Amino acid sequence: MRLTLSVIKADVGSVGGHTKPSAPMMATVMGEAAKAVDKGLLIDSFVCHTGDDIAIIMTHTRGEGSSEVHQFAWKAFLAATSVAKTSGLYGAGQDLLVDAPSGNVRGAGPAVAELSFDHSLSGSRPAESFMVFAADKCGPGAYNLPLYLAFADPMYCAGLMLPPMIKGFRFHVIDMDHTAGDSVIELDAPADGYHIAALLRDNERFGIDRIVSRTYGEVVVAVSAQRLHSIAGKYTGKDDPVAIVRNQGIFPAPEEIVSPFAKAHFVGGDARGSHVMPLMPVPLNTPVTGMYCLPIVSCAGFSIDKDGRFSDAFTDFFDNPAWDEVRRRAQSKAIEMRSQGWSGAAMLPYSELEYGGFRDTVSALQKRFRLREEQKPEAAE
Ligand code: 13P
Ligand code: 13P
Ligand code: MG
Ligand code: MG
Ligand code: MG
Repeated sequence: MRLTLSVIKADVGSVGGHTKPSAPMMATVMGEAAKAVDKGLLIDSFVCHTGDDIAIIMTHTRGEGSSEVHQFAWKAFLAATSVAKTSGLYGAGQDLLVDAPSGNVRGAGPAVAELSFDHSLSGSRPAESFMVFAADKCGPGAYNLPLYLAFADPMYCAGLMLPPMIKGFRFHVIDMDHTAGDSVIELDAPADGYHIAALLRDNERFGIDRIVSRTYGEVVVAVSAQRLHSIAGKYTGKDDPVAIVRNQGIFPAPEEIVSPFAKAHFVGGDARGSHVMPLMPVPLNTPVTGMYCLPIVSCAGFSIDKDGRFSDAFTDFFDNPAWDEVRRRAQSKAIEMRSQGWSGAAMLPYSELEYGGFRDTVSALQKRFRLREEQKPEAAE
């Protein structure tokens, strides 16, 4: 069977500010997903939230970009938006940026990651397992560094030295500043590793779109790499990417994939999408309530049975005391960075400031700048 994994995530309202969706909103999306499974549109589904973003994780056989699957997710988010509006929640419908997308919702606001593979539970994949990363309060390239380290650096993934992985992985990198269609370059690690790094260092412009095994031709990673502010033309909350990562066997093991997140690396995001702050790994369904509105990421793991259904249980990778140490370090990096307030590297550069108001403040001041008398063109003649 040709199986597709789709993850579609949106922020459609939250309780008490940008914290978490309400229980009735979650129940609404879960109810819609259960109906879609009953109708046979989906094989299986799982709904969770990260901060105030609701993620729908799905298996089906309709392929990537299926308008039926995307329309189902859009309608589920619209239903949750109505619940949010009725309860007077903050930012109801925030990530639904267009009135009614005709098919595919990519580019309409929600974060979308999808990949497909032949699901036979034989050959190179006698078992199928994967994980889903979902981030809130952070920029679109938040996974650039951790995925590079897991798929191109044996210091993080010693498994890369094994025969099934030693030829490396092909990175599809997307230029997120390109608005007329997706503009993508394919580069092979390890041969083009420095070229890949040269692009991925710019988290706001370049993002990993997918990663493919060079030995097996199998897609292992899909990321939602897009910038909300290039879609909406104005501040609408941060881009908050999702990623699907298949694991084990011919791919890195889960511990090799999550270990780069122990860095709590700095990303753009945080309050008003305008600061540079560490990415904190958190359990599923964590609200954003700590000081500063830190960028957060969750990671859910699943196995898939022969019919494409999820295992009854799921694994919550960051819900482990080992990650408490990382969370503490993320918090202390955050305190350090925020002690610098608005100055220089602590906040995003002008071009990346997400909150329109900051730019309005500067534009108003720009009108009041004057050339010094002696430097005026007449004076120079
Ligand atoms: P197990 O012995 O639990 O199968 O662990 C295998 C492994 O390789 C972990 O990366
Ligand atoms: P959201 O993307 O969750 O709406 O967060 C935006 C924000 O600016 C928080 O201060
Ligand atoms: Mg929000
Ligand atoms: Mg959000
Ligand atoms: Mg957002």
